[in-house]
Parts: sequence; structure tokens; C-alpha cells
Amino acid sequence: MITVFGSINMDLIATTDRLPKPGETVAGNGFTTAAGGKGANQALAARRAGRYVHMAGAVGKDGFAADALALLDDAGTDLSLVKHVDGPTGTALILVGGDGENMIAVVPGANGLVTAADAETAVGKMSEGDILMLQLEVPVDAVERALSAARVRGVTSILNLAPLTPDARRLGRLADIVIANETEFERLAGQDGMDAEAREAALHRLHQETGQTLIVTLGGDGVIAIRDGVISRAQGLKIEPVDTVGAGDTFCGYFTASLDEGLDFASALRRAAVAGSLACLKAGAQPSIPLSQDVADRM
Ligand code: RIB
Repeated sequence: MITVFGSINMDLIATTDRLPKPGETVAGNGFTTAAGGKGANQALAARRAGRYVHMAGAVGKDGFAADALALLDDAGTDLSLVKHVDGPTGTALILVGGDGENMIAVVPGANGLVTAADAETAVGKMSEGDILMLQLEVPVDAVERALSAARVRGVTSILNLAPLTPDARRLGRLADIVIANETEFERLAGQDGMDAEAREAALHRLHQETGQTLIVTLGGDGVIAIRDGVISRAQGLKIEPVDTVGAGDTFCGYFTASLDEGLDFASALRRAAVAGSLACLKAGAQPSIPLSQDVADRM
């Protein structure tokens, strides 16, 4: 069983030919809303990958709450650990440029009211061998409590170090498995501007220090990871990205689901990388998360 403890947002998405520079106004050419939030996106990806998933987090008591949960609900995700609090649901203001790159500002809203007690409740319902997946869009003390409770219960914890926060390095040390992009990994390793060789050396060094499984996503260059002293690499698909929002979350959710299903580590990385590539082919975070059969067809 998988529990995702994290954020639930409504994404307000504007598309532009190119992203603005600070202080600049550019004309938009489209606007849409879609369910998002790193936690919710990862939960939906794990669910679409075919696993049983609990989502734990919070939404507000506003008009966005139902929409933010709709796709999770449709997919059959267990939402009994989502609390409804006074105030707004989390929102993300997203600009997507013509090349598929994006800029995002997140207003936490209800996500900021997720507590350490909520973490205790969520992890308290888990058993040894279950998997807990977290990100850094809910308060630090809640993430920290969830990680320590998971360790006590023999639950495997997977922490996605996104978005990058000042606590990322400290929290990263508390998880069994860490998933980071290149920048987040540099923060974890305490070393800026790594080339491929330096990254591999840092993976070996950190792994020796902590024994953790470490996974670094490299966008179009796939993924590199270390587990049990062995470096693994996996490639996604060669694609022309339309919108990369949610691709990292899709990777995380599919990877977690694949481990939960019992796939070996290398196969889990490859399946997650393929799913992440497919998530770049459609607009919006949750609408773009592929179904398990679509991923299988491209393996
Ligand atoms: O990772 C993408 C997500 O980041 C978006 O869905 C947005 O809500 C922000 O949390």
C-alpha cells in the first residue's frame, strides 16, 4: 500500500509564446485550470500505474476544493485522509512558454495547515513494507514527523526534494530513498555546478555516508541512481515537450508504484522515466499523467 503525504493544489495555467523576464509583461495565448499539487500529482500517477493509494493532505472549503480532488477521486484514490479546513485550497500560478518550459508560484493555502499530528495519523495507518511518499510543499515539521514515524513503523519512505527549500538537505537525510532533480541534488550534496563526473562521485560519496538510495532526474537525459553501491541509469523517450509541468511528479508516482508492485529497481526506473516523458506531451499536471497501459505500450 502507498500513502502520499503532501500538497493538493488547483493550477491556474497561462500559456505564452515565451516566458517573461522579471518586470516584463508578455501576451498570453491561452488559459486553463487543472488539478495539481506535487503530492496529489504523485498520488494520481501511482494510482494510474495501478496501485492502491491513500492521499493525505488538506484542501480548503472553497470552490477549488472539489475540482482539485476530482481526478484523484475518479481514479479511485482513497481520500479519507484529506482534511477540509477553513480557508482557500492551495493554488499554483503557472506560466508555460512555447518551448514547454515553465515558471510556477505556489500559494500554500490549506497545504500550510497540514500538521505533524496529521502525519502521525497517516503513518499510523500504515504497516511494515508499505511505502510513504513525500515532497516539500507542506510544512517542514509535518514532513519531518512523517519521516521519523515511517522509520519507527518499518515503512519505506521516499522523499522527493521538491520544491527546493532551506530544509531540503536536512530532511533528505531522514528518508530511505531520495528523488531529486539536478539542482535539488546539488543542494543535498552541498556542492554547486556539478558536471556528470562530479555528480557520479557525489552519488557514491553520499551513498557511502548514508546508505540511502539516491535518484537524480536529468530531464531529457533520463535518470541516474545509486542503490546498494551500484550506479544505474535509465532513459525516457525522445520527445518534443509540450508542457513539462508534472513530469517529475509522474516519475515519482510511477517509480513508487513500480517498487510497490515488486518490480526490480532498474525496471522501476525505466518505467518511471517513460511515464515522465509521456507526461510532457499534454498540457496540465494531472490531465497529462499517462495510464499504465500507455506506458507499457512505449516500453
Ligand atoms: O510539480 C508540478 C506541481 O507543482 C503543479 O501541479 C503545481 O501545483 C505545483 O505544486
